[in-house]
Amino acid sequence: MAILDGKLTALDINDSIKEDILEYIALGYRVPRLDIILVGDDFGSKKYVEMKSKKAQELGIKGVVHTFDGDISQRELSDLIVELNKDEEVDGIMVQLPLPNHIDEKYVLENINPEKDVDGLTSTNLGKLFKNDSTAIAPATAKGIMKLLEDYMIQIEGTNAVVIGRSDIVGLPTAAMLQNENATVTVCHSHTKNLKEICKMADILVVGIGKPEYIDMEYVKEKSIVIDVGTNKNSDGKLVGDVNFNSVKDIVEYITPVPGGVGPMTIACLLDNLMEIYIKNVQK
Ligand code: GUN
Repeated sequence: MAILDGKLTALDINDSIKEDILEYIALGYRVPRLDIILVGDDFGSKKYVEMKSKKAQELGIKGVVHTFDGDISQRELSDLIVELNKDEEVDGIMVQLPLPNHIDEKYVLENINPEKDVDGLTSTNLGKLFKNDSTAIAPATAKGIMKLLEDYMIQIEGTNAVVIGRSDIVGLPTAAMLQNENATVTVCHSHTKNLKEICKMADILVVGIGKPEYIDMEYVKEKSIVIDVGTNKNSDGKLVGDVNFNSVKDIVEYITPVPGGVGPMTIACLLDNLMEIYIKNVQK
């Protein structure tokens, strides 16, 4: 078993973002800007937003966080997005999810101009991704998984890939991107029958189900690649993935650890998406 070290790969991406920004600034361009909308006081969401904006600042990106109480109206949120769409200094807009129940998440996200949709969650960008259109902005976690596989030169073409979970953030875009690289992809979810048998056939298994250490040795194929997208607290309060690392480690060829696997890649790829948008904007 070997580790897919997301921390290390993310470091390379972050270094190259930092260098690119310095070059553009030296040429007299403005700094890139990312606006993040945070609603309510969900502990996990606050922590993620803090990590994203801190890393952005560290690399030279202006990170602006718009924080609102959980009772903000859908109209107010949409109005803010419309304003940010018009602001030429704003390169990327992202809304941290989940939003409170009284707000229609899909409606709010569709207000984002697809060209500023740094998280790739509008129908335009997800649709483009499924059409294998290279101008799609890919959701950061899916992009991070693909970059990690690429960095470790893992063959995707012709493999059987199984993705557990069908969210817009992780499962669906990851399935699309694996398929675009010529894997045969099966998407599993809570209604899937024979999950174990399906997973056992996977050369590449991507797990994003939010169940601590759920996937054990009975689900994984010998010498397979396991990507664990889970971030859960176990009964001791320790951060663990959706995969039982100790149970599968002697069976698999590669595995992403939690923490230090997909997590750092998600942040790096969000900022990498922002840079792609910024470079297009300053070159207009
Ligand atoms: N909440 C948890 N992960 C994500 C993500 O990747 N993007 C957004 N917008 N919200 C999230």
